[in-house]
Amino acid sequence: MTTPFTPRHWSSRFAFLMAAIGSAVGLGNIWRFPYLAGENGGGAFILIYAATTLAIALPILISEIMLGRMGKQSPINAMRALIAEHKAARFWMLIGWGGIAGAFVVLSYYSVIGGWALKYVELALTGAFSGETEAAAADHFSTFVADSGSLMIWQTLFLVITAGIVAAGVTGGIERAVVMLMPLLFILLAAMAVYATTMPGFGAAMQFMLAFDFSEVTPGTVLAAIGQGFFSVSIALGTMMTYGAYLDEDVSIGQSAIVIAVADTAVAILAGIAIFPLVFSYGLEPSSGPGLTFITLPIAFGTIGNGVVIGGAFFILLTVAAVTSAISLLEPIVAWIEEGVHLSRKWLAIIVGAAAWVAGLGTVFSFNSWSDFHPMARFGVMEKMTVFDVLDFTTANLVMPTVGLLIALFAGWVLSGPVVEGALGARGKAWFPWWRFALRFIAPLGVVSIFVANVLM
Ligand code: PHE
Repeated sequence: MTTPFTPRHWSSRFAFLMAAIGSAVGLGNIWRFPYLAGENGGGAFILIYAATTLAIALPILISEIMLGRMGKQSPINAMRALIAEHKAARFWMLIGWGGIAGAFVVLSYYSVIGGWALKYVELALTGAFSGETEAAAADHFSTFVADSGSLMIWQTLFLVITAGIVAAGVTGGIERAVVMLMPLLFILLAAMAVYATTMPGFGAAMQFMLAFDFSEVTPGTVLAAIGQGFFSVSIALGTMMTYGAYLDEDVSIGQSAIVIAVADTAVAILAGIAIFPLVFSYGLEPSSGPGLTFITLPIAFGTIGNGVVIGGAFFILLTVAAVTSAISLLEPIVAWIEEGVHLSRKWLAIIVGAAAWVAGLGTVFSFNSWSDFHPMARFGVMEKMTVFDVLDFTTANLVMPTVGLLIALFAGWVLSGPVVEGALGARGKAWFPWWRFALRFIAPLGVVSIFVANVLM
């Protein structure tokens, strides 16, 4: 270690859990999961999602937190230390480099969409949705995204909040923010879900969410579920490794990972319970894709009795979820640079935040001036994709599966059984052999299959 820096250590298991759940619960749960479930037939998708998350994402989550705690530094330096200690090949540095690079790219586009959520808080609270028709809602959204200047303003605001929290340090910033924001998020979500049970469309919504209609299930559905599970529990981008590095030795990683994965899945399902009754009560389309949150819901908020309150609460919830995920994307990068450079964390958060802002411009322009620019037109699958689509596709479908696979192989095959058993404090625990089997066989096969199918499809 070349520079001393502000202490990076969770002050309690609760703080770690709130930070990790804060990372996992994000746009992925509240924006992406309901529309994916909506597009993929509802209940059957939810069931497959739960199964693949348990069998594939959870074992990798345990490994990632474990590697972080073993290495005790940012992903790049933790991997360097582990490789030296266990005489492994330099090749495994890809876990660190790939994670950090992926985190930067995801942060760049995540901040743009996080900015939309902020903008919609303003719209909801000022009553802008009142009397919204379907056409007006679509128009509202397309007018907003067509204006790059306004997207930049909201992207900036979102990044300022994110960088501000990371700048204040692990204990003084991240921990303080998550222990306050995560309970708020749970309360808002629970209140919305309870409210949804009183809506006329509740029955239809439950039927939709519980319809295990497997005739609609294709290999594509399974792949979408696996990909969503990775993104949703925040694996493979160095986040969980970094948060694991700040964790005390006596905290059980296996138990913690189960709490994180269960909370993450519960939030996704609660978000569905909060959202679909609104959609069904107003005869709207459950499978309206990414526009579900920003076009379909405002119509319901504009019609419903307490639309300003309910709509405001919903978009505040979405913003909180996005911010606590964005800080977990920024922290690994800041932590890494902090370990090698004589600059304060404050400056590093500002510099990396500014760099993510510049990189995010590609996403900003994807919705307006560059909407017809298809940078990867030469590659079949990416032919019609905008810059934003390419970034989202390559991180979620290429970088995350690759890094996730490497984590599974490194923790499952390179590190010996006794080493990982010790690192997890799992001697004699009944779940240990199950975890190791899932890590060595099920997770790699699952990941390789998403990878191949996504590239071929
Ligand atoms: N899990 C976050 C979400 O669901 C996204 C994320 C992925 C955050 C990876 C950090 C690391 O929105």
